[in-house]
Amino acid sequence: MNYLTVKLSKNAIPKYLSGALWFTKQDIKNFSKLKETIQPGEIVKILSQEGFFLGIGYFNPQVYYALKLLTKDEAKIDEKFFKTKFERLYTFKKRLYPEDEALRLVFAEGDFLPGLIIDIYKNIAVIQTYTTGMERLLPLILKALKAALPFVKGMVIKNDSSRRKEENLPLYVKTEGKVEELVSVKMGGLKWLIPVIKGQKTGGFLDQRQNRNFIKMISRDLSVIDAFSYIGGFSFYSLAGGAQRAFLVDRSSFALSIAEEIARINGFKEKIILVEADVFHFLKNPPLTDMIILDPPAFIKNKKSLKQGEKKYASLYSLGVKALKKGFLMACSCSHLLEEKRFETLVLEAARKEQRQVKIIYRGYQAADHPVNPAVRETFYLKAICLGGY
Ligand SMILES: C[S@@+](CC[C@H](N)C(=O)[O-])C[C@H]1O[C@@H](n2cnc3c(N)ncnc32)[C@H](O)[C@@H]1O
Repeated sequence: MNYLTVKLSKNAIPKYLSGALWFTKQDIKNFSKLKETIQPGEIVKILSQEGFFLGIGYFNPQVYYALKLLTKDEAKIDEKFFKTKFERLYTFKKRLYPEDEALRLVFAEGDFLPGLIIDIYKNIAVIQTYTTGMERLLPLILKALKAALPFVKGMVIKNDSSRRKEENLPLYVKTEGKVEELVSVKMGGLKWLIPVIKGQKTGGFLDQRQNRNFIKMISRDLSVIDAFSYIGGFSFYSLAGGAQRAFLVDRSSFALSIAEEIARINGFKEKIILVEADVFHFLKNPPLTDMIILDPPAFIKNKKSLKQGEKKYASLYSLGVKALKKGFLMACSCSHLLEEKRFETLVLEAARKEQRQVKIIYRGYQAADHPVNPAVRETFYLKAICLGGY
């Protein structure tokens, strides 16, 4: 392996030993010299100051975390490296959801592959890269994916997230092989249509799968508002659990049109009401229901927007409480910067202000195929809480 060498400073060793995958320029010896000689995204060998091998990673002097660790093994970062990873990850993730045809194969830092996300929807893989390092490795990754999972017939490189701008990466969506807009998959005993090209993120929100199961469990005979429904993830689980009807509220007409088709193929067409609206407006004059699910997009994208984002969550949760005379309120947040305790306080505070006597009947998180890396706090992002009995 003829990789260029980067040495970690002594101060960075405790961080390395605690499992960190990201290192700043202060953690790197002779950073100013290295930044002249190493290309953004280049693979490097990481050594201690004394020359001991620490790992292999990629280097980008233009971003705050200039070095990201890929492996602590003395490995060559080639097709075989990724193929082995993908095979092992597939075996593990399939164990979690043996009956489902969709799973998150790679959850970036949560699966020790910084900057890479791969979702599998039946025989289609949707790939996202978020760093210059991973972008450079993309051709290898695609080859390795085909070799590891031969059933994959088409791929979507879904690199349209504005997060890529942090590394000055272009936004684009590309397909390889045979890919149609809607992929039909079975999940949770239901039939789904996943918009893998024009949809949001990778097309589906697989991270809510376990929380949807809880909703399914308590839904019998209820009437439900699924606020921020997208293609109706929560709605269809609740209808499968015996709900009478579901209002799907989203501002995306594209998402709602797919929800309508999903309702049809599952026999729920008569039980859904599609509402193309801003949830904040809709909840001011809501229909009478027994359950409200609030699953908004991330309102806090960075530390600067923390206070403003918290306010937005508070006002949403408060609208949710007011809109529900009695029943169940499932509130979610997918902002990693909103800590769990604070999230819970915001929801409970909304209930307290309305003088509702509440019980917490469920606390939920991102699904297990989105594992949390305890050394990278950003990987713990999805929180859900269900209040009931009021
Ligand atoms: C996190 S996704 C919801 C995922 C969905 N609950 C599921 O289980 O698949 C957020 C959704 O909120 C919608 N959205 C964002 N802001 C909105 C608003 N103010 N009013 C209505 N919909 C909104 C987006 O179009 C997107 O579909």
